[in-house]
Amino acid sequence: MGKIILTGDRPTGRLHLGHYVGSLRRRVELQNSGEFEKIFIMIADAQALTDNFDNPDKIRDNIIEVALDYLSAGLDPDKSNIFIQSEVSELTELSFYYMNLVTLSRLERNPTVKTEIQLRNFETSIPVGFLTYPISQTSDITAFKATTVPVGEDQLPMIEQAREIVRKFNSTYGEVLVEPNALLPNNAVCSRLPGTDGKAKMSKSLGNCIYLSDTPEEVKKKVMSMFTDPNHLRVEDPGSLEGNTVFTYLDAFAKDEHFAEYAPDYKNLDEMKEHYQRGGLGDVKVKKLLINVLEEELSPIRARRAEYQKDIPAVYEILKKGTEVARAEAAQTLKEVKAAMRINYFEDSELIASQQKRFNG
Ligand code: TRP
Repeated sequence: MGKIILTGDRPTGRLHLGHYVGSLRRRVELQNSGEFEKIFIMIADAQALTDNFDNPDKIRDNIIEVALDYLSAGLDPDKSNIFIQSEVSELTELSFYYMNLVTLSRLERNPTVKTEIQLRNFETSIPVGFLTYPISQTSDITAFKATTVPVGEDQLPMIEQAREIVRKFNSTYGEVLVEPNALLPNNAVCSRLPGTDGKAKMSKSLGNCIYLSDTPEEVKKKVMSMFTDPNHLRVEDPGSLEGNTVFTYLDAFAKDEHFAEYAPDYKNLDEMKEHYQRGGLGDVKVKKLLINVLEEELSPIRARRAEYQKDIPAVYEILKKGTEVARAEAAQTLKEVKAAMRINYFEDSELIASQQKRFNG
């Protein structure tokens, strides 16, 4: 059987460089590799509501943002099915049955959920929908029989829990579901790109993101104010790379070709790093290189966005078509799930015939 991808994002804001290097850039490569039989990219609005239930307009407004980010980053609707989670009601139905296969204590132990509960100050008043979102995420993955789930490191506990549910389902009811594998970014920098302020993660609430849809001016301003080495006061001083965000971003984005073009004094990033550590290389020069490197990546994305933005109904049409394909796929899996669970009464002519016999001889 061919390999199938499912992955997605919560539509709680525009996508930023963290999403891009952590997942989106890779998805586009995977899409174009031709290695996958089917690709499903989901806008996880129902999951986003689990901790934004009181702010549905935020989710509603960000669906188009995420869709535009996807398309402009290079996801091609002819190769990747982009769809909206809540429009595939089969996913909710699967979750209801999977709930029987998971204990409360197992959900409470899920490290991602645990961290998120602390972050959101839910403490003892955790919405049940939020606590159970790993189950819903299992439905997302298994409905498409996904073999491969490209995600960031923070999602590993979700995939582990999905695998457990799949094993439990298959051993209880028969082999229907496919155990998924996570596909992590291929280098550590990309797994967790820090915010422009040097904090561990890009996050909208911290205001430390560079968005895919930022203008060149915004990108420039954000890079110029980025966190570097606070002890690197004069150009002559030796600088440290440890926690130096500008270099972390260069690690994630710079290629050797960029140096020939924008910083010909160096062959590659290693040479530039050496100079910085030795002293004599100022932050502004490094930041200017980063601006050029980012612009090379972002300007084609921006150009595609501008095109797609001109015709918003067409973007919704892409989502609608993708959703129809997704629904058909999920419906097929749900049918198999219900048959395995022995809850397919009207489709089981043997059941009806045998009971006819039992009652009537
Ligand atoms: N939880 C993911 C996130 O935080 C979004 C998501 C929902 C997802 N369902 C998924 C990712 C299924 C991969 C597979 O962004």
